[in-house]
Amino acid sequence: MTFDFDVGLNRRASSSTKWEKFSSDVLPMWVADMDFAAPDFVIAAIRQRLDHPILGYTDQPESLNVAFQNWLQRHYGWKVEADWLVWLPGVVPGLNLACRAHFGRGQRLKVMIPTPVYHPFLDVAQNSGMVEQRVPMAVSNGRWEMDFDRMQAVLDDQTGALLICNPQNPTGRCYSTGELQKLADFVVRNDLLLVSDEIHCNIILEPGCRHQPVAQIDPEIARHTISLFAATKIYNIPGVSCAVAVIPDPNLREQFKEARAGLVSGIGPLGFVASEAAFNDTGQWIPELVAYLRGNYTVLRESLGERLAKLDATYLAWIDVSDLRIVDSEAHFAAHGLGISPGAQFDGPGYVRLNFGCPRSMLKEGIARLERGIAASRV
Ligand SMILES: Cc1ncc(COP(=O)(O)O)c(C=O)c1O
Repeated sequence: MTFDFDVGLNRRASSSTKWEKFSSDVLPMWVADMDFAAPDFVIAAIRQRLDHPILGYTDQPESLNVAFQNWLQRHYGWKVEADWLVWLPGVVPGLNLACRAHFGRGQRLKVMIPTPVYHPFLDVAQNSGMVEQRVPMAVSNGRWEMDFDRMQAVLDDQTGALLICNPQNPTGRCYSTGELQKLADFVVRNDLLLVSDEIHCNIILEPGCRHQPVAQIDPEIARHTISLFAATKIYNIPGVSCAVAVIPDPNLREQFKEARAGLVSGIGPLGFVASEAAFNDTGQWIPELVAYLRGNYTVLRESLGERLAKLDATYLAWIDVSDLRIVDSEAHFAAHGLGISPGAQFDGPGYVRLNFGCPRSMLKEGIARLERGIAASRV
């Protein structure tokens, strides 16, 4: 093993959002930020950049475009042009800009969003003066799926965009090629803009699954899609704030850039170098991280059984607590020493989300606290 994921690091003195939220007797397993050191080659790239003592405004280096293009080619066989890429300080600004870009010209005002979903999706419509159309996903044998019948039923002539997340946060689904094909047909047939947040790519737990960017399916769906990527989840560098939108359609790309102007700041030089080092990685980080997370997932499944959604991907466990007598799940589990994300935040009441991207010893302590919280609230 090149990387040791069992090492526990004290993050309390680092103003960590994750570790500052709760009091010191609460183990934080909420926000999507792992408790593993980022890989040495990423840290080395940042150190090297610091050899130059001026951290001025910085343009994205051409070498970053090349690193990301090669990364898409290596992982998916997807060939994209450098001028399709628009760099951003985050995926969340990308979600918002995508909607503003599309609707800035008085087009169809409704945004369809399958739920539960990562909570900033639920603010996008309102942020952009649009109307949200939430469509509940379906659950089949513990696995969450897009419900195309419901989506079709909700769709109307004002629906202009569809926002998805794949691999999906919080349900851990990685959509199959069949589902993506169906999604692509739905989008093209109804002439929608598809915004696809693919930030959790590469963290695939289910050996039979393969993550595929939806825009790669064919050129037609690519023209309808803004795909959002970042190295920040996979390499555990979310604080460096760097992401990228892939926008093959030139008009859509120009509208997106216009929407960005004056609203979104540039990216810091450390975000660029860290991302470039990550996208150039061809070593053992991803396989070893995924193997460790699979081990954590197994430990969780052994403890939680059917409560745990069947995860294809991500390090986020989606746990059914709907049979328990809990009013406020965040406060309830915090009182038992565990910081989780309440499902209601994602439009998934009756669930909690637990981040298991941490050393196994910490996970076991978290599970013990979770079980105490569950035992205390049985009906
Ligand atoms: C699905 C998803 N999208 C976006 C983000 C945040 O991305 P960024 O920090 O680049 O805005 C997260 C972070 O948890 C996420 O889970």
